[in-house]
Amino acid sequence: MPAANDETHFGRRTVRLDEKQGLVNDVFRRVAGRYDVMNDLMSFGLHRVWKDALVAKVCPSLTRPFAHVDVAGGTGDVAMRVARAGGPLTTVTLVDVNGDMLRVAEERAARRSISGRLTFIEGNAEALPLPDSRFDAYTIAFGVRNVPRIEDALKEAYRVLKRGGRFLCLEFSRVDVPFFERIYDAYSFAAIPAMGKVVTGEGAAYRYLVESIRKFPPPERFAEMIREAGFARVDFTRLSGGVVAIHSGWKI
Ligand SMILES: C[S@@+](CC[C@H](N)C(=O)[O-])C[C@H]1O[C@@H](n2cnc3c(N)ncnc32)[C@H](O)[C@@H]1O
Repeated sequence: MPAANDETHFGRRTVRLDEKQGLVNDVFRRVAGRYDVMNDLMSFGLHRVWKDALVAKVCPSLTRPFAHVDVAGGTGDVAMRVARAGGPLTTVTLVDVNGDMLRVAEERAARRSISGRLTFIEGNAEALPLPDSRFDAYTIAFGVRNVPRIEDALKEAYRVLKRGGRFLCLEFSRVDVPFFERIYDAYSFAAIPAMGKVVTGEGAAYRYLVESIRKFPPPERFAEMIREAGFARVDFTRLSGGVVAIHSGWKI
């Protein structure tokens, strides 16, 4: 039997820490090609509004050099938004552990004028293949929940940020409106896996998504973890009745 501190969650299942990444990679390998369509369908397009809110907080410079890193960047939604929001000296590094998701991101970016300011790196949030104190801002959107050792990912975020740099995380959170909570639960557990099965052929992947949201720490606890990694002025903003939250911290 593995020690308790060697275990984590993969959706509802308890798995060994060293098993989780392989299971997560398998989920995203299977859905990569249909990931964007499914995001629009299951969130009724709201994920675009949430990502816009995240990028508004990044606020990349229009005139000065601005180095941004988007970790667990998937198919590139956030990275491309940051590049578009910034000026010609804004550069964005997208890191993802999954080559299939990265390939979709690269294909999407190649069709856009910002592609010259984007770099794609296959790498793990827990051990970023990036130098210390390099970036003005770090984002991770709907990614941290999938990382087996969240504390390590937060320490890495701190390491790669410059002093004065900002950490921003968009993640599913806890609905805090009583009646809406029941509708949200019914929709999540019944409709999302069924929709996932029809659209991607992968109902189990979307069951994992819904279950992993419930296993993620509540926003107050996640804010504490961000503080424990060394960040200051930590806070979070709930959006859409708490369906998601944007967490923020500064390296000072
Ligand atoms: C739900 S998707 C989010 C993608 C994108 N950020 C978005 O908001 O659309 C989660 C992403 O996290 C990536 N991921 C999972 N574990 C990771 C890790 N340890 N390090 C880096 N990326 C990881 C997956 O490959 C996947 O692309």
